[in-house]
Amino acid sequence: EIIVLDFGSQYNQLITRRLRDFGVYSELLPHDISIAKIKEINPKGIIFSGGPNSIYDENALKVDPQIFELGIPILGICYGMQLMSYYLDGDVEKAANSEYGRADIAIEDANSVLFSGLPKDEYVWMSHGDLVKQAPAGFKVVASSKNCPIASIANDQAKLYGIQFHAEVRNTEYGLDILRNFAFKVCGAKADWSMTDFIDLQIAEIRQTVGNKKVILGLSGGVDSSVTATLLHKAIGNQLTAIFVDHGMLRKNEGDEVMAALNRDLGVNIIRVNAQDRFLAKLKGVTDPERKRKIIGNEFIEVFNEEAQKMHDVDFLAQGTLYTDVIESGTNTAQTIKSHHNVGGLPKDMHFKLIEPLRKLFKDEVRELGEKLGIPHDLVWRQPFPGPGLGIRVLGEVTEDKLKLVRDSDAILRDEIKKAGLQEKVWQYFTVLPGIKSVGVMGDGRTYDFTIGIRAVTSIDGMTADFARLPWDVLQKVSTRIINEVDNVNRVVYDVTSKPPSTIEWE
Ligand code: XMP
Repeated sequence: EIIVLDFGSQYNQLITRRLRDFGVYSELLPHDISIAKIKEINPKGIIFSGGPNSIYDENALKVDPQIFELGIPILGICYGMQLMSYYLDGDVEKAANSEYGRADIAIEDANSVLFSGLPKDEYVWMSHGDLVKQAPAGFKVVASSKNCPIASIANDQAKLYGIQFHAEVRNTEYGLDILRNFAFKVCGAKADWSMTDFIDLQIAEIRQTVGNKKVILGLSGGVDSSVTATLLHKAIGNQLTAIFVDHGMLRKNEGDEVMAALNRDLGVNIIRVNAQDRFLAKLKGVTDPERKRKIIGNEFIEVFNEEAQKMHDVDFLAQGTLYTDVIESGTNTAQTIKSHHNVGGLPKDMHFKLIEPLRKLFKDEVRELGEKLGIPHDLVWRQPFPGPGLGIRVLGEVTEDKLKLVRDSDAILRDEIKKAGLQEKVWQYFTVLPGIKSVGVMGDGRTYDFTIGIRAVTSIDGMTADFARLPWDVLQKVSTRIINEVDNVNRVVYDVTSKPPSTIEWE
């Protein structure tokens, strides 16, 4: 494994991600990790991430300088390189100006191991204030740019390296090769991190933690809680009880599909609570989207608690927390546009000990894990689905009649997208019920009925999105089928706004 020490760069988890993509297990750890802990992990290499500080700041993040004596290869990126130079008595200059953006570098040393196999001239992504003015004793300067004469330093004997630019971002032409050279040529890492090892390790760890105690888990029907449940089941069988709170706002047949895949086929012990009536009663008369989200979230917890109290001697609560949740929690200062209440999330004060076996995985790794555990491909690769479900796709007050319109029209859209082979090309696609009625003509008669909106977007992470250019003939089929197969709908419209200014969901 190669560990990445976190000095606060916005790119730090990308470094971890890249290494795992090479098949080298990597974790992001705090910058002030103890030397004893590092020795215990015994990593093949260490990377210092970048960070927003200047090493001369009063609160600059530091490391224990003994780290340079462990004989473990270290690569310092940006702030990491400055920190290394600072401790090893190089000279770091406080910047008058900062440099941000693309820069061209020239490789000065043809034998440099970090740049081995790469062209002499290449472009990189710079984002820094301070600069290394003088490399520490024993180091060579291996690359330079116009504004940054010391863009990379190396001490092959001590296996210490630094780069002033960010190799982990795509805007660095050969960034991945540089990281690969560090991992394989410098550290001698092996590409042996695989999901199968992860499963074995996790199972052993879960068994050890849980012993003969009992575990409960709140199943929302989503990918993360489904994979967590399946993994735990594999480790401890029926010591796990998953409580599946079906709030009645899942997609068509979804609750049954989850039960069939996890309970019937994989044997996970699941109590399904059909709680639609309770949720609808609480939502009666409520039209504000944020209040709807809160009500649905709170009711989920209520129902879960009631079921949990019927059980005895439960010590542990399992949750499908992901790596991104772990890293992002606490640092997210962005304004709340929507509360994004995740119905699978349970409050921390429930007096259970927490088990979060996915906390080191990224979303796509969770999907891979799910498939390895035997969860069907379609279930694991489902498009994102909001915790409050169809409850925020019926605009305004939620009623069973209106839910049915959304559920049925959504099923038609999904079916046609699948038939057209577009499921993996479109990031998210669904229908909404705006709650307006308009005039139509069907047969020989006038109609006055509901409109269904189709939303389909392309996106990388849901933060921004563009409307998908669905082929006209697919839209036409969907439209015709919705009108013919769903009662009380006489008009279908397509949403052609991007995010921003709209959001993906309509509420
Ligand atoms: P918006 O509508 O904010 O959605 O552009 C971005 C992504 O987040 C999903 N979303 C939610 N997920 N609880 C969730 O778990 C929510 O309350 C929620 N609201 C939106 C949305 O489906 C999209 O993928």
